[in-house]
Amino acid sequence: MDPLLKITSIETLYYDRIYALRGLSLQVQEKEVFAVLGPNGAGKTTLLRTISGLLKDQPKKGVIEFGGKRIQRLPPEKISSLGISYVPEDRGLFRELTLKENLDLGCWGRKDQNIKDDFEFIFRLFPILKARASQQAETLSGGEQQMLAVARAMLRRPRLLMLDEPTLGLAPRVARHVYDALRQISQTGTTILLVEQNAKMALGIAHFGYIMESGRIVLEGTAQALQENEDVKELYLGIGGESVSPKGWRLYKKRRTW
Ligand SMILES: Nc1ncnc2c1ncn2[C@@H]1O[C@H](COP(=O)(O)OP(=O)(O)OP(=O)(O)O)[C@@H](O)[C@H]1O
Ligand SMILES: [Mg+2]
Repeated sequence: MDPLLKITSIETLYYDRIYALRGLSLQVQEKEVFAVLGPNGAGKTTLLRTISGLLKDQPKKGVIEFGGKRIQRLPPEKISSLGISYVPEDRGLFRELTLKENLDLGCWGRKDQNIKDDFEFIFRLFPILKARASQQAETLSGGEQQMLAVARAMLRRPRLLMLDEPTLGLAPRVARHVYDALRQISQTGTTILLVEQNAKMALGIAHFGYIMESGRIVLEGTAQALQENEDVKELYLGIGGESVSPKGWRLYKKRRTW
């Protein structure tokens, strides 16, 4: 089956000279969960922003195909209308609006009859949102804001949901709730691409993972293969679980032959 998202050799630069993505290629299969893992500065956020069209005139080189159509360098609203929803690391909420107003804006432009069902779905995923509907977004807890951001993105009925470190700064229990919700979203047939530093959490729900360092993919495989890979275990999963080993990352340097 053709991949839903196919990225071929893209290069993204900041200020025309700082390479953040250096010939990166990856593919995302429909209805699956794909995780991109990597250390600080690897280019994970840049990758999602490049796909979303948020970086003007980027990528400088390479091709991004979504559903068989080339989308690189299209304006962000066009890319969103094709079915890609992006939950940025800062969640991108309207902070001074209420939770409900944020959700209503998520439905902007929709005229179909399924909106009520979609609200029921997101309130089933995150019951707390219903109770806090009239609360201003900026006064919500970090976990509630993340849930709101995911819920709002789902109201676009995306074919591809992209998330940037959805559990950053959240307590483990809240992080698990968010991941449980992502699993349920995936089961409804929405394709998910998430970037994470928390390799253990991400590989727990992903079908396939990419490891990214210095703007390139340095390793890829099924989630199971990555979890069993000795380098991934040592550098990304850390001894004893969720903490990152202080030696850290740097598969690329370790294996310069790649
Ligand atoms: N707006 C910008 N202007 C210039 N350089 C940038 C900009 N944003 C990111 N970079 C640089 O691009 C590289 C990749 O950054 P990016 O934010 O994509 O990494 P990341 O993998 O998301 O890191 P983190 O895990 O810390 O979020 C870094 O070297 C960073 O300094
Ligand atoms: Mg980032």
